[in-house]
Amino acid sequence: MKLEGEEKTKTLEKMMRTTLLLCLWALSLSYAQLSETEEAGGEEEAVELFTTDRTKMAAATSDFGYNLFRALAGRDPKTNVFLCPISVSAALTQLSMGASPDRSERWLYRALRYHTLQDPQLHNTLRDLLASLRAPGKGLSIAARIYLARRLRLKQDYFDLVEKQYGVRPKALMGGAKDVSEINDWVKQQTSGKVNSFLSKPLGRNAGVFPVGAAYFKGKWITRFSQSGAMEDFQLDGEAPARIPMMQQDNYPVKMGVDSDLGCTIIQIQMQDDVSMFVFLPDDVTQNMTLVEDSLTAEFVQDLSMTLHNVKAALTLPVLKFSYSTDLLPLLAELGLDEFLADTDLSKITTQTAKLGSLNHKVVMEMAPEGTQYASSSPAQAPLTYRVDRPFLFLVRDEASGALLFIGRVVNPRSLRI
Ligand SMILES: *[C@@H]1O[C@H](CO)[C@@H](O)[C@H](O)[C@H]1NC(C)=O
Repeated sequence: MKLEGEEKTKTLEKMMRTTLLLCLWALSLSYAQLSETEEAGGEEEAVELFTTDRTKMAAATSDFGYNLFRALAGRDPKTNVFLCPISVSAALTQLSMGASPDRSERWLYRALRYHTLQDPQLHNTLRDLLASLRAPGKGLSIAARIYLARRLRLKQDYFDLVEKQYGVRPKALMGGAKDVSEINDWVKQQTSGKVNSFLSKPLGRNAGVFPVGAAYFKGKWITRFSQSGAMEDFQLDGEAPARIPMMQQDNYPVKMGVDSDLGCTIIQIQMQDDVSMFVFLPDDVTQNMTLVEDSLTAEFVQDLSMTLHNVKAALTLPVLKFSYSTDLLPLLAELGLDEFLADTDLSKITTQTAKLGSLNHKVVMEMAPEGTQYASSSPAQAPLTYRVDRPFLFLVRDEASGALLFIGRVVNPRSLRI
């Protein structure tokens, strides 16, 4: 990399400041082709992204998301996992508005990484961030709400407070099968009919508090893929390959970098409305991606994006289309919420003892070959190939704010379906 000495030192200092274990500037672009294409990309100024209230909030929700993702991914290393963390941040933030300020709110803020913000208007900041992420062009719809058992004798002030702030009114449950259909109807309506059958079974009877978070994401590329649907091999760790539909495009403009410490090649693909997707593709066919998972933070991804180079590649991606649902409640203890779960004081919601019953999360995602532009037909000087045909990790980020929108680990695409 042709970094100037001064810039190099600056970058290095920054790494030390953020106490990253991995020294990213050492990211060795070992592919000869990559350095050849360098003049096309050039070096970008390392701009500080997380400087405003909104971008700091985006970093906080992202860091919460990476922590939650690590907990989820660590639960079973052999499985596909997906998450729209900001929908969970939104639900837990609504819950925090009903928590007693001395303890429960403090615990929730800590898990949500809000203690890193010095923002007296954090609810307004989150509301505005969520509104910007919901811009139709970004392709993301989010549903987040608090459901509460009516028997808790709920305080109406809380309902008004949340509705006024976030435009969604918490909902009292009657208890029974009707609750399930009502919740499912609401989630479906919030996601334009894309997230169906949100709950597959009735909510627990003993607990009274049920935050829910759901999301639908339809990625829209800038550059379209010309070939799509061809069945190709996807290598699996310790199993015969799976035949899955892939999409392919030559001369595809991406940003790319090799990280030898993480043992993977990373690309960033531009999507519409200032969104992008990062793909982390390990060098080996392995479902063990703990090295990458452990390194993810908002700052790391931002620094990473600054080190990637503009190249044109023959790009092959799986045609992804799936739904994924899970109860995230058991993971909250790993995010430092064990005390909160044991001693849930929601004094602004009810004077009675309240308990979280579940934290249901469901996401649906579709990646189609369509895009608004065609790749240039003139062949690149030194063609690179990037084939996502083995287990990989991806994340979708809003470039304007740096907010993490979606994150997933694909171990076996054969088991993915809507
Ligand atoms: C996964 O990889 C990490 C780092 O390379 C290693 O420490 C760990 O033992 C591996 N886990 C499994 C289950 O193989």
